[in-house]
Amino acid sequence: MKIVSAPDYQSMSRKAANIISAQVILFPHSVLGLATGSTPLGVYNQLIEWYKKGDLDFASVRSVNLDEYCGLSPKHDQSYRFYMDENFFSHVNIPMENTNVPNGLADDVEAECRRYDSVISGLGGIDLQLLGIGHTGHIGFNEPDEDFDKMTHCVKLKQKTIEANSRFFSSMDEVPKYAVTMGIKAIMQAKKLLLVANGESKAEILYRSLFGPITPAVPASILQLHNDLTVVADDDALAVIREKCPTAIG
Ligand code: PGA
Repeated sequence: MKIVSAPDYQSMSRKAANIISAQVILFPHSVLGLATGSTPLGVYNQLIEWYKKGDLDFASVRSVNLDEYCGLSPKHDQSYRFYMDENFFSHVNIPMENTNVPNGLADDVEAECRRYDSVISGLGGIDLQLLGIGHTGHIGFNEPDEDFDKMTHCVKLKQKTIEANSRFFSSMDEVPKYAVTMGIKAIMQAKKLLLVANGESKAEILYRSLFGPITPAVPASILQLHNDLTVVADDDALAVIREKCPTAIG
């Protein structure tokens, strides 16, 4: 595990975008695993800026997203397909047919999960998976106490996650209660992992995830077992790690 510190959100975003850029420059046909949420927005903005300058080319890149809400159409402004189109895909030259997000409207959710796993394996697996981390330690929508050995599956969201997401919906009732997510096993199969975190509200969970016991109670704790994990975090998110494990930060 490598922990890279950044003074602030913008710097965190640039450093993480640099790692993704290197991947795309060295391996133009890379399969990128992508994430939604507020944390990666700065990474996407930076990649877009470099693409517009002519420094990056996404023409041969393929992507798979971690998750999608059940019941939201791709056109719903809170769906993760909409987020990706709005915040990244439509601003760069990745062919839309190269982009994959689970179908939140599938009638047969189990079949959709199996389809998504076969999309990932058909692409030869994920070269670099970008991850955010939830306050519960969730990655993707893998909530605490889920088995570590799941591939793509449907999850019932925890109340804390529903509440955190409710800021994006006009009422609590509208917040989806289920989602399709790549499982921990699928995430751990990615060749490289890049976790981004910012803000003091992530400091405790980041410490518990990276230095606490490996347990399904903290889904992100499994990342300690990945052999190519890079964490890029700002100083606020690294506050507890800096205090308890000062030598861990590179
Ligand atoms: P956030 O979400 O980036 O909006 O904090 C992270 C996550 O839930 O994975």
